[in-house]
Amino acid sequence: MVSNNRKVGVIGTGVIGNGWIARFLAKGYNVVAFDPAEGAEMRTRTLLKRIWPTLEDLGVSKDASIDKLQFVNTIKEAAEEAEYVQENVPEREALKKQVLEEIDKHLKPTGIIGSSTSGITATTLQEGLRHPERLIVAHPFNPVYILPLVEVVGGERTDKAVIDKAKALFEAMDMKPLVIHQEIEGHVADRLMEALWREALHIVNDGIATTDEVDRAITYGAGLRWALMGPFMTFHMAGGDAGMRHMLEQFGPALKLPWTKLVAPELTEELKERVIEGCENSGQGKTVAELEEKRNEFLVKQLALVSDYWPLFNKTE
Ligand SMILES: NC(=O)c1ccc[n+]([C@@H]2O[C@H](COP(=O)([O-])OP(=O)(O)OC[C@H]3O[C@@H](n4cnc5c(N)ncnc54)[C@H](O)[C@@H]3O)[C@@H](O)[C@H]2O)c1
Repeated sequence: MVSNNRKVGVIGTGVIGNGWIARFLAKGYNVVAFDPAEGAEMRTRTLLKRIWPTLEDLGVSKDASIDKLQFVNTIKEAAEEAEYVQENVPEREALKKQVLEEIDKHLKPTGIIGSSTSGITATTLQEGLRHPERLIVAHPFNPVYILPLVEVVGGERTDKAVIDKAKALFEAMDMKPLVIHQEIEGHVADRLMEALWREALHIVNDGIATTDEVDRAITYGAGLRWALMGPFMTFHMAGGDAGMRHMLEQFGPALKLPWTKLVAPELTEELKERVIEGCENSGQGKTVAELEEKRNEFLVKQLALVSDYWPLFNKTE
């Protein structure tokens, strides 16, 4: 377990920033946070209170405490004494660059900056920084305080030692950093999810299935396998005794059929309404916070299963 007096900064405390705050606090860090939105601090503290039992189930370090969180009024205060700063502002390039420049201005030279960006490359975000060599993309998954994956991507000017240090930091926080060696918009995981998301929107837009039916098609089928295996091992096992070799012979030709569209449909008002109404119906009047509680309960159990079984199907390093 990590026991420390170390300090990190978190800039932008929405869905993802709050997830990082929870994970850092659970590992005993002092967290200094900044978000200009009215009520941001209250929102974070309410969430922390609600999810702390979940964090305890997952294992918090001896010196972990919600009291180690401090909200400040400027990026300068959040960055100046930190060893690591995580940026989580909305996905707009100009805004991110402005915020990152401000962090860079006040962070000590040995400090590292991670951006949660889902799609922008580190090379783009490095433009204009005093110390571009200490910027990485550290792309997490919601809820950050439960899901271990973080994609770590350096830009053209990132120092390799910074990637190694960030990887070690995330491992010490019980995360599973995936270092991606070649930059691409959307990194790896979001490109995969985006392909499925676009197809799901087409299916709903074309009236082929409802949002609920699409969700069922995943939950009771592929979704159950995906917790343990990605697309490659899943298809290896779909090929019978000869595994992937047979799978490719049998289903390879189908890849040429025009089954998937991939180019996103137009987000018309009608499609938006259909999707929103579908999700609200599936939620059966429960608030997102109520759904979140049950999802967390499920993920904690599932994570334990994955830890037990995953090494049987995948190399551990
Ligand atoms: N939501 C997800 O599932 C998810 C997953 C992985 C990564 N991300 C990435 O994380 C980042 C944040 O996404 P989110 O979903 O948390 O968004 P969000 O809208 O929930 O939160 C953004 C927060 O940034 C704050 N903010 C705006 N301007 C700011 C500024 N100048 N300084 C500091 N804070 C400011 C807002 O007040 C808000 O609280 C994005 O880059 C997104 O692509 C999101």
